[in-house]
Amino acid sequence: MKVLKELKFLFISLLFVGGSFILLSMTNDVQEDWPVPAEYKNMKNPLAGQADPGNIGKNLYKKHCESCHGKEGYGDGSKADELDTEMRDLTSDEVQAQTDGELYYKGIIGRDEMPNFEKKIPSKDDRWRIINYIRTLK
Ligand code: HEC
Repeated sequence: MKVLKELKFLFISLLFVGGSFILLSMTNDVQEDWPVPAEYKNMKNPLAGQADPGNIGKNLYKKHCESCHGKEGYGDGSKADELDTEMRDLTSDEVQAQTDGELYYKGIIGRDEMPNFEKKIPSKDDRWRIINYIRTLK
């Protein structure tokens, strides 16, 4: 009988621990888990540190990104309220501490509510100009 009691206790404990894990993963900040493949993470920005005298990056940001991310990158664009996914402030340390390659992957390849821009912004240089522009927002 004692063994049975112990088994019952073990079973209930396991259920409790399992349930807590499921709940935790549901409430987890979705943005914490956005793995970037190594080939993107370490991708070199060919235009790093280069000026953009025609403001191409800025204008493309305005055209394609501002509606969600907002003029200053704070995540307060006109469409932001319609989104289910919380956006990070692009000027924050969390975002700015990432490599150019990570920002490129998230900002161009995207996922779910963060659209893919490979077709809309075909020029690789233009994509990097947008990343460079995001660097000026901090
Ligand atoms: C339709 C709304 C929308 C548009 C337009 C949009 N984004 Fe996003 N963006 C999001 C959302 C939502 C997230 C958060 C996605 C997630 O965590 O799953 C995000 C996340 C990001 C991130 C990752 C930040 C982090 O959490 O580390 C970057 C970088 C980014 N966007 C760049 C861009 C760029 C560059 C453009 C324009 C070319 C753009 N976004 C256009 C909605 C948008």
